[in-house]
Amino acid sequence: MSVVVPVELGARRYEVQIGTFTPEAVAEILAVALGPAVTGVALLVDGGLAARAPRLPPLIAALGARLPDVDVLSLRAGEACKSLTEIERTVEWLADRGYDRRGAVVGIGGGAATDHAGFAASIFLRGISFATVPTTLLAMVDASVGGKTGVDLRAGKNLAGAFHQPRAVVADLAFLETLPLRERTAGLAEVVKCGFIADPEILDLLEGSGPVLSPALLLDLITRAVRVKAEVVATDETEVGRRAILNFGHTIGHALEAASGYDLLHGEAVALGMIAALDLGAAMRIGPPALAARGRALLDQLGLPTDAASRLDPGVLARLAVDKKRRGDQIRFVFCPAVGQARLVDVAASDLAGRFFPKA
Ligand SMILES: NC(=O)c1ccc[n+]([C@@H]2O[C@H](COP(=O)([O-])OP(=O)(O)OC[C@H]3O[C@@H](n4cnc5c(N)ncnc54)[C@H](O)[C@@H]3O)[C@@H](O)[C@H]2O)c1
Ligand SMILES: [Zn+2]
Repeated sequence: MSVVVPVELGARRYEVQIGTFTPEAVAEILAVALGPAVTGVALLVDGGLAARAPRLPPLIAALGARLPDVDVLSLRAGEACKSLTEIERTVEWLADRGYDRRGAVVGIGGGAATDHAGFAASIFLRGISFATVPTTLLAMVDASVGGKTGVDLRAGKNLAGAFHQPRAVVADLAFLETLPLRERTAGLAEVVKCGFIADPEILDLLEGSGPVLSPALLLDLITRAVRVKAEVVATDETEVGRRAILNFGHTIGHALEAASGYDLLHGEAVALGMIAALDLGAAMRIGPPALAARGRALLDQLGLPTDAASRLDPGVLARLAVDKKRRGDQIRFVFCPAVGQARLVDVAASDLAGRFFPKA
């Protein structure tokens, strides 16, 4: 069973295919999407995947059999590949291997590997085609859509990058079988986010399910989350406006993630950030307190952290000062006035401490 979600971006339109696929089916989808003019394909693969995912070798073999001139480059596992040094290594490798403008890149791995692959593809020869095979839940529901690619700088995460849309994304749910539970749970936070800002049914489905999500439910949830992101991105590709609603839970979330020294996974930080935003929304009378209670109960049920208040301290709030989405003294928050809705409201940084620490 599989589902196709189109990302409607005119000439840059592409499809996200979600389901369980044979390696040959993945190869076929990518071959069709990259087109007959492609002369060589570089597979940029998360370096941790080979040892952990038995699905990888047959996938690489099938891609080698179906696509022209396939080479494989193993990236440093996870976030370690998201540096300019690693990008330099990749683009020098592409050049050494003789890729020209008809070459293409396929990123295989979590969001780190696919962000790296997309960014390398965006700058090599001023931009060549790329596609991704996301292998984590987070990469399937979030990094797969929207064309944000990039790497980290010393000053912060994702500070160097480009918008570069993939030609295709194939989310093969079988990869999730080897994903550690903590990573899987963290990915669900972005699914919950899509429920709050746009698709209430997501919350109902999760609330009604047991601790183990069935494959059919997982397919439904991933599809719904991808649809939400695809719809938002289609109306605002480069985040001049509405796309910012996807940052629900991310304002405080990013600050908590950085303050933890990245001990918190991104999804865990987003869970905490959503609780903080729901609480703040209730305090500012933008959303009802019942919504914050619902968010807490659901995130607890899923095994995500919700103790935002006890983790927030003035040091964390000070980090909002370096948030790249900040405009002057105003910090743009995404609030949820009702399930399935989002509203952007600027809050003065100087007001925040008073809101979060009323007695201080
Ligand atoms: N471009 C975007 O729009 C966007 C959106 C969200 C997140 N991101 C980026 O995505 C990154 C986080 O992505 P992530 O959560 O996927 O983490 P990740 O890419 O760092 O992967 C996490 C770990 O899981 C391992 N792994 C990957 N797939 C596996 C599998 N199937 N089985 C077993 N292990 C597996 C990896 O080796 C790694 O150690 C961040 O860098 C973030 O900035 C980008
Ligand atoms: Zn996120």
